[in-house]
Amino acid sequence: MKFLLSVFLLFSLFVPLHAQTAAAGYEPTASNLAARQQFSDARFGIFLHWGLYSLFAQGEWYMQNEGIDKDEYAKAMNAFYPHAFNAREWIETFRQAGAKYICFTSRHHEGFSMWNTQCSPYNIMHTPYARDIVGELAEACHETGMGLHLYYSHIDWTREDYPMGRTGRRTGKDPQRADWPAYYAFMNAQLTELLTNYGKINGIWFDGVWDHDNDSIPFDWQLPEQYRLIHSLQPACLIGNNHHQTPVEGEDMQMFERDVPGENKAGLSGQAISRLPLETCETMNGMWGYKIKDQNYKSTPTLLRLLVRTAAKGANLLLNIGPQPDGQLPATALQRLREMGTWLHGPAGESIYATVAGPIAQGDSLVSTQGRTTGAVYLHLLSSELPAALNVPLPEKPASVEALLEGKPLPFVYSKKVKRLSVQLPQGEKVEVDYIVKITPQNRKR
Ligand code: GLC
Repeated sequence: MKFLLSVFLLFSLFVPLHAQTAAAGYEPTASNLAARQQFSDARFGIFLHWGLYSLFAQGEWYMQNEGIDKDEYAKAMNAFYPHAFNAREWIETFRQAGAKYICFTSRHHEGFSMWNTQCSPYNIMHTPYARDIVGELAEACHETGMGLHLYYSHIDWTREDYPMGRTGRRTGKDPQRADWPAYYAFMNAQLTELLTNYGKINGIWFDGVWDHDNDSIPFDWQLPEQYRLIHSLQPACLIGNNHHQTPVEGEDMQMFERDVPGENKAGLSGQAISRLPLETCETMNGMWGYKIKDQNYKSTPTLLRLLVRTAAKGANLLLNIGPQPDGQLPATALQRLREMGTWLHGPAGESIYATVAGPIAQGDSLVSTQGRTTGAVYLHLLSSELPAALNVPLPEKPASVEALLEGKPLPFVYSKKVKRLSVQLPQGEKVEVDYIVKITPQNRKR
C-alpha cells in the first residue's frame, strides 16, 4: 500500500504541463470573459522590469549571468532608495503614451519582492526606501482606470526551497535544501497577498516554467491548483504564463516573447496560437531590466509599426521599459512614449484600439485591422513609398474609402463581379510610420 501510494505521489508530481491541467475543468466566469474582451480592446500596455537588479544596471539576469552569491547580492537591498519614483507620474506618462495597462514585476527571478509581503523579509519594506511600490502603483492605476497586471516569477535564485532548475546554479544555494511543498506554499501565500491587499488585479503574468524544461522527469508545477486559487480570489483576473507553449487549462491569455503571433524570429514562439487573447512582449532597447550600456533603442516608427503588426495579428503589444535605480524612466524611453502617444491619440488610434485582426494581409508591408463593433477595415501600409493603387478582396462595396490620418476621401472602384476593391493612392508621399486606408462598410456607416 505504502509502495502504491508513493508510486502515485511520484506520478502526480511529475506530469507534463498539458496533462497537469486535464482534470481542472476550468469555466471562466462572465466577469472573466468581459475582462478578456476589455484586455483585447486595450491593445497597448507597458511592461516594467524593476527590482534590485536595476542597481547593478546590468539587466535582470545579472545575478545568474555573473554567478553572484545570493547573500552578497542581497546587500544591494540596503542601498535601494529610488528617491525619484512617483507612481502617479509614471501612470500619467503611460496614459499619455496611449497605454491602457501596465504589467509590473512584483518579484523577478532574483527573488526580491517589490511589495509589503509578510512571506519573506527580502522585500521593499526592508530597504531604506520602505515604501510599498506595488501598492503605490496599484493606487495610481485604480485612480486613473489603468489596468494592472503583475508579473510573478516561478523561479527563485535566492530561496533555498525553490528546487533548482537549469538557472540559478551559481548563486550559492544548497540544492539539498530544496523543498517544493514549502516553496509552493510560499508562492501561493504571496499570490494571495497580491490578490487580496491591492484591489483589482487585472492579470497575473507568470514566467519561469521553462527553468525545468531540461529535467529528465517532467517537473510538476501544480499549476491547476495555483490557477484555481487565483480565480477563486479574483475570478476576472487574467492568468497568463510565459511558458512558450500553447496555453493550458486555467489560463486566460497567451503570450509571445519578442515575436508577433505566428512568427518565431526570436526562437521562443513556435507554439500554436490559441483562441485566447494574445499578447506580444518586446523590449524598447535590448534588455528587460535597466542596463546602463544598452542604448540600442528601437526608433518610434519601428515601435509603432510593431504595434500595428501585433494588432493586425489580433494581439496586444506589451512594450517594456527598465526603470533606473533612482526611480526615473530612461529619457529615451520617455521620448519614445511621447511620440507614440501623439500618434495613438490622433486619428490612428481608432485603427488600433478595440480592433480585431483584419481580413487582408499582403506580406509585411500591407496588414489590416478591423473595428470590432464598427466593422470598418483599416489597411495599414508599412512601406516607405506608397504604391500607385491598391487592389484587395472585399465582400461588399464599401460606403466610403478614406485616408485616415489625412481625413480625405480616396477614389475607388469596386468590382462586384470579382469582389475586389481598387483604391487610388496619392503619389510622391513618404510614409514614415503607417499610411492608413479606412474602408467603411455600407450597413454600418460611422
Ligand atoms: C524571459 C526572461 C525574463 C523576462 C521575460 C520577459 O523569460 O527570463 O527575464 O522577464 O522573458 O518576457
